[in-house]
Formats: sequence, C-alpha cells, structure tokens
Amino acid sequence: MPGATSSDREIKNVAIIGCGSIGASWAALFLAQNLAVTVYDINPSTETFLRTIVSTALPTLKSLGLVKKSTAKADDIAFTTDLQAALSNADFVQENGPERLDLKQSLFTEIARHVADDVIIATSSSGLMCTNIQEGIPTESKPERCVIGHPFNPPHLIPLVEVVGGRFTSRSTINRTLEFYKNVGKKPIYFQKEVPGHIANRLQAALFREILHIVQNNICTVKDIDDAMAFGPGLRWGVMGPSTLMHLAGGEGGVEHMASHLLHPMTTWWAQDHPVVDDELKDKWVAGTLDAVNGRNYHELTRRRDDEIVQLLNIRKEMVADVETEFEAKKLFILDTDLSRLPNACGRIQSCNTNGSGLHTVVDNMAALPDGIAIDNDRDYMYWTNMGTSLSNNSGSIERARLDGTHRKVIVASGTPGVHTPKQITIAPLSRKLYWCDREGMKVCRSNLDGTTIEILVDTASSEEPHPQCRWCVGITVDEARGFFYWSQKGASKGKMGRIFRARIDEPGDCEMVFGDLPEPIDLEIDEENAMLYWTDRGDPPTGNSLNRARVDIPKREREVLATRLHEAIGLALDKENGVCYVTDLAGGVYEVNVETREKKVIFSELGDLTGMALA
Ligand SMILES: NC(=O)c1ccc[n+]([C@@H]2O[C@H](COP(=O)([O-])OP(=O)(O)OC[C@H]3O[C@@H](n4cnc5c(N)ncnc54)[C@H](O)[C@@H]3O)[C@@H](O)[C@H]2O)c1
Repeated sequence: MPGATSSDREIKNVAIIGCGSIGASWAALFLAQNLAVTVYDINPSTETFLRTIVSTALPTLKSLGLVKKSTAKADDIAFTTDLQAALSNADFVQENGPERLDLKQSLFTEIARHVADDVIIATSSSGLMCTNIQEGIPTESKPERCVIGHPFNPPHLIPLVEVVGGRFTSRSTINRTLEFYKNVGKKPIYFQKEVPGHIANRLQAALFREILHIVQNNICTVKDIDDAMAFGPGLRWGVMGPSTLMHLAGGEGGVEHMASHLLHPMTTWWAQDHPVVDDELKDKWVAGTLDAVNGRNYHELTRRRDDEIVQLLNIRKEMVADVETEFEAKKLFILDTDLSRLPNACGRIQSCNTNGSGLHTVVDNMAALPDGIAIDNDRDYMYWTNMGTSLSNNSGSIERARLDGTHRKVIVASGTPGVHTPKQITIAPLSRKLYWCDREGMKVCRSNLDGTTIEILVDTASSEEPHPQCRWCVGITVDEARGFFYWSQKGASKGKMGRIFRARIDEPGDCEMVFGDLPEPIDLEIDEENAMLYWTDRGDPPTGNSLNRARVDIPKREREVLATRLHEAIGLALDKENGVCYVTDLAGGVYEVNVETREKKVIFSELGDLTGMALA
C-alpha cells in the first residue's frame, strides 16, 4: 500500500455525486447525521426524487436512533447540476453514478479537479474494482484517496458498508473512510483484497446462481424459493452469520463436527453446471418473481420491508448491547472435588457471575478430584488439574475445555512425570506456557498450552526436610515482568513450616526462599504491576486460614493478613482492576475480599468441597 496521505480534515460537508436510489439514500443518512449535504446529478429531475426519498427516510432514521439533528428536513440538502459548485466545500465525496468503469474513471478525474488533495473520493460501486478505476485517472488526481465504500440498498437503513482500496489507495484513506462510516452509524467491513462484486454481492451472486439453476430446471417456483429463504435460512441470517450458524448447527461438536461431516457432502449440493442465462431464463425468472409479488404495490412492499428491518435492527441493537455487557462481566470458575463422597466423588466445575448469580455447572462427572484451574482469556479455554482418583495411585492428569465445558480433552495423561498429584495451575500469558505444582510428585513443572514439552523446573523429592510434607509443592504463580515464578511448599499440617520460593523463569535451578515459617501457604497469585504476591493458607488461627499479601520487590518483605476465619482456604483469584480477591475454602465457602478495606463478603457458604478457582 502506498504511503499514507494523512489528514486531520474534519468531515462536515459531504458531496453526493449521482442521485439515483443509492445517492438519495446516502444523502438522507448524512443529513440525519448533521452533516452539510450537497447533491449533484446531471439530471435536474432527480431533485424531486431526492426530496421524496429523504422525506420518507427521515422518520425511519429517527426510529433507528440515527437522527442527530432533530430539525433536519429534506429541504436542508442543497441540490445542483453544477459539479464544481457541488464540490466547492466538500470534505468527503460519495460517488453514485452509473455502474460503468469508463464513466467512473472520468467522473473521478473530474471530481478530483475540484476538491483538495486530502478529500476522500469513495464510490458506491457494487462490483467494480478500485484499482481499475484508479488506472484510468491521472496521478495528479491523487488516486491514493480513492476507495470503494459499497453500501447495501438502501444505505440509510442497512448498516453494512464494504470498504476496500485499490493498488494505489493509502492506508490513511482506508482508516479515515472506516472512521467516517463508523461515525455516521454504519457497520463498515474492511477487506484487503479486491474481488469483483466485493464480498456480500459475491455471496448474493452465489445464491442467485442456484436460484437461476433451480428455476431453469423447473425444480420449484420462484415463490417457493422466496418463501424457503424468507421463512428458513433468511430468518437466521438476519441474526447471525452463516458460519456461526453452522457452528450452532453442529451441536456439541460445533463447527469442527460440521467441517468433518458436512462440508464435503455440501459441495455435492451445488448445481454441478452453470445455469444458462438466456432470454428464456430471464423471462421465466421475471414472470416467476412477479407471480411471487402477486400484484402487491411497490411502495407498500418497500414500506413493509423497511418497517420490519427497522424492528429487527432495534431488537439487534438491544441484544448486542446485552451481549456486550454480559461479555464484559467477569465470571468465576470454581472447582468442586466432591471430596465428601469419596470414593464415589463426582466433582464439577461451576461458573457464576462475581456476585454469585447465574450459577451453573459447566463440567460434570469429574471423578479424579479436580484441584487447580487456569483460564486462557485470549482463547476462551480453561485448564485444570486432576489430583487423581486416589492421592496415592499416581493417576493425576491435566485437562482443558472451552469455557462452556465443550471440547474437553486430556492434555497431560496419567502416569506422565509431573502429574502425580497436580495442584494449582497457571498460565504465563506472554510465553504462552502452563506452570503447575505436583504435590506428592514434589515438582514444579512447565509445558506448552497443549501439554507438550513438559519441563521439570523444580524437584524437591531428594531435599533434606524435617517433614515429608515440607517437600510438597502446591501453589504457583508467574511474574513474567520480573522473570520469576513463585511456588509454595505447604509443610506439615498446622505445623507453621510453610514456605514460598521463587526461581528465575530462564534459570529455574537457582531458587530463593521468599517466606518461611508460614502457617500453611496454598494457592498464589501475583499483581505483577505492583509486585504484590497474594496467597491463601490453611494453617491455624489466629493468622492461619487466611488471605495474605506481601510486596516481593523490596528487601523487607512483610506479610499482611487481609482476611481470616476461612475454613481450609485454598482457591484464589485476583481481580486487580476491581481491587478484590476471590477465595474458596474446602468447607464450601466462596468469598470476595476487598484488598484495601479488607471487607469480606460471603458469596456462597456451602457450595461443595471447593478447591481451585479462576476468574475469566
Ligand atoms: N441499486 C443498488 O441496489 C445498489 C446498491 C449498492 C451500490 N450500488 C451502486 O451505486 C451506484 C448507483 O447505483 P443506483 O442504483 O443508484 O443507480 P441509478 O441508475 O439509480 O442512479 C444513477 C444516477 O447517476 C446519474 N448520473 C448519470 N451520469 C452521471 C454523471 N456523469 N455524473 C453524475 N451523475 C450521473 C443518473 O442521472 C442517476 O440519477 C452504482 O455504482 C451501483 O453499482 C447500487
């Protein structure tokens, strides 16, 4: 892409060149958006058409919430048959002349003569390629400011506008065009590669190939085809895109299932030969379409189409807003080992909003005592450790699944060194690695996110310790900013022998004790920005069974107890933005602790036999 012709020109005046149905509809939208609009057409009679279209469009735009100037009226638009006058103040040009390459080339050249070099000239062309238009205009016309801005009819109503540049279009032109369309309420879609018909028209053309084939081969009537689409796929396509809908059609197996089961058969459904678009087919299609229209008045049908689209758009607006709020809201993921029912434990992963609402089970039937959970927010995956069906038979493992519980998969199988009894697990987001502790296995491990290339970073099995439990590695967190990973060794039960260590990510053999003589530290979390380490512990009161934190970037590291009266505290999830920690305990409690005020809220008191937790 050539060098950008950047500009900070504010777009206040828009020139519409060519005032057929597309030009007039654009004019209505720009007027409603409080822009000064001047319209040019070679045919003076289009002025009446323009004012009629704009008057009809304004109430529609109002019901869509797209009118920024409440007093806007059709007469506010200036109409002229003088091109130079139309362009004298233009900050942006939307060209809508007839769909002919030679005409667009000469029109662009002419337009360029009357506007400043940084004024973008966008064409509504349905299928011409921008490069071809640019090839027919001289360099002094500044082809880098030419771009396709292809709307869908009617532009004031249908949000889509396809933006694609040609070989000479600058990046700045693309960015400014996208921004402009977005600012006037459109949904611009940008694609880098030009193709005849762009994207949406190419899709329509593919559909019409099949329609014409069906009509030519007398498979059904045009009305049947219209009904099939309007009452079938068309309804769904008004809500979601075809590939997302295929994902839903694949049920639990989603789009992967569809890819392996439906894509090949689907290719045999295409018409195997092209329809021959001759006069006979044209007549047949026209007659069939008029039959489907069944004498209904053009204006009446247009009004009905527009009314229904307005309703749909308004519903979609609300739903998108709801979905966005839902997406923004954080979710807790909580592991329940179901330890109370050993040897018939049937654990689960539950998820809920951070206030406890919307609690639901995402993974069920977990017989292998799930313990630690980590969420990869970039990819919507969760990873968890299973301690195994018994703590002594080396049957631990690591699994992952989508956040909705689907696509569950073992990524580190039982028997692999490092998963004897895996405990807390975490993700190092920059290096895209998993880190976890293996309690009875007495190790700290790291692997790729798919469970491959497992490295044993720390092995405490042979260390001299006063008590075997002093060698048990439990909690883990990674500070990639400073290049450390931290882990806890809990020590004997209620023995005040707990310690927290750290080692360098790139030199794990060189380890340092950060804290000793702790009640019984379990899970860890770090606020990298503030070098603040958080941990839970299961030791004895008064300072045990608590939530703690300490700065780790200063020589004098002091433990601060943030919450007590927990009941075998284990799981920990830090929400740094909101200044809270979520904690679980084995007795089933889920708590929110404000790390500044130390206020502790009970979200659940007896949710299960809870171990790890994570925040998505
Ligand atoms: N109709 C659609 O559904 C649709 C949708 C999206 C994009 N488009 C594109 O928008 C453009 C316009 O389409 P339309 O359907 O409005 O066409 P149209 O035929 O209804 O209007 C074209 C207008 O251009 C005027 N015109 C002719 N020569 C001119 C010139 N030299 N200078 C200025 N004006 C001139 C005509 O008088 C007419 O008013 C085309 O490029 C088309 O591909 C059309």
